[in-house]
Amino acid sequence: MILARTRAEVREWVAAQRREGQRTALVPTMGSLHEGHLSLVGIGAACGPVCLSIFVNPLQFGPNEDFSRYPRDLEGDLELARSAGVSLVFAPSVEEMYPGGEPWVSIVPDRGADVLCGRSRPGHFRGVLTVVAKLLNICTPDVAVFGRKDYQQLTLIRRMVSDLDMAINVVAGPIVREPDGLAMSSRNRYLSASDRQSALALVRALDRCERLFEGGERDPELFRQLLGNSVDPGVSVEYGEVMDPETLESTSRVAQGTLCAIAARVGATRLIDNHLLGSGSPLASI
Ligand code: PAF
Repeated sequence: MILARTRAEVREWVAAQRREGQRTALVPTMGSLHEGHLSLVGIGAACGPVCLSIFVNPLQFGPNEDFSRYPRDLEGDLELARSAGVSLVFAPSVEEMYPGGEPWVSIVPDRGADVLCGRSRPGHFRGVLTVVAKLLNICTPDVAVFGRKDYQQLTLIRRMVSDLDMAINVVAGPIVREPDGLAMSSRNRYLSASDRQSALALVRALDRCERLFEGGERDPELFRQLLGNSVDPGVSVEYGEVMDPETLESTSRVAQGTLCAIAARVGATRLIDNHLLGSGSPLASI
């Protein structure tokens, strides 16, 4: 496995793969790797050699967010990446990714970014789309793999790739859960033992939504209430939304495939999770 620190090294590697007739896959991450990331590597590997990027992108963090304390563990990540069969890890510095400092030109989504997480994180998706566009331009992969846990991010990346005619196949990986159902996230490391128990309220609320749907309920308000009213006092729900999975618009009628999305603060940690109704219990995959 190669560790590349510069864009030039990645471009050289990609050119060598192309010369050998290989298709390549990119798995963009911010490191602190867990099983969820490794499952994305598995999906990418079906296409060809995998480049996994590790970059905590300052552009997508707000001034009062956790950029400086975001967990970083390059040595541990390299070991996991190697064991998952990654061919090249791209771990650039902030200066390597933004040599001119704050970019003059960035990618600002016109739709879909002022709902869900975008409401409390203004500028977040500008930061995400800008760094993802840069990574796609640097790595020029055939396939790029993103997790479905960040559903809004995945939707906006798909829109960017399609609206800007980028010749890349965006593939979504499933939500990978801990044995008790908690969606895997690098931020789970922040949780205390009691926060960790409280955090299960998110997947339990999604599970109750699925059961409500399977029982024939179609009124979105009931689903919103269920998501918005956490039964755990350690959990403060930021949003519990019921939306069209393509447009991310609030829906007035629940149907097969409707998106239920939840974000909550558990202690000081912000967690997100989601579920597409009619796809079986979110707890069934564990
Ligand atoms: O999902 C993430 O880890 C990040 O938002 C991404 C896509 C790597 C961009 O920094």
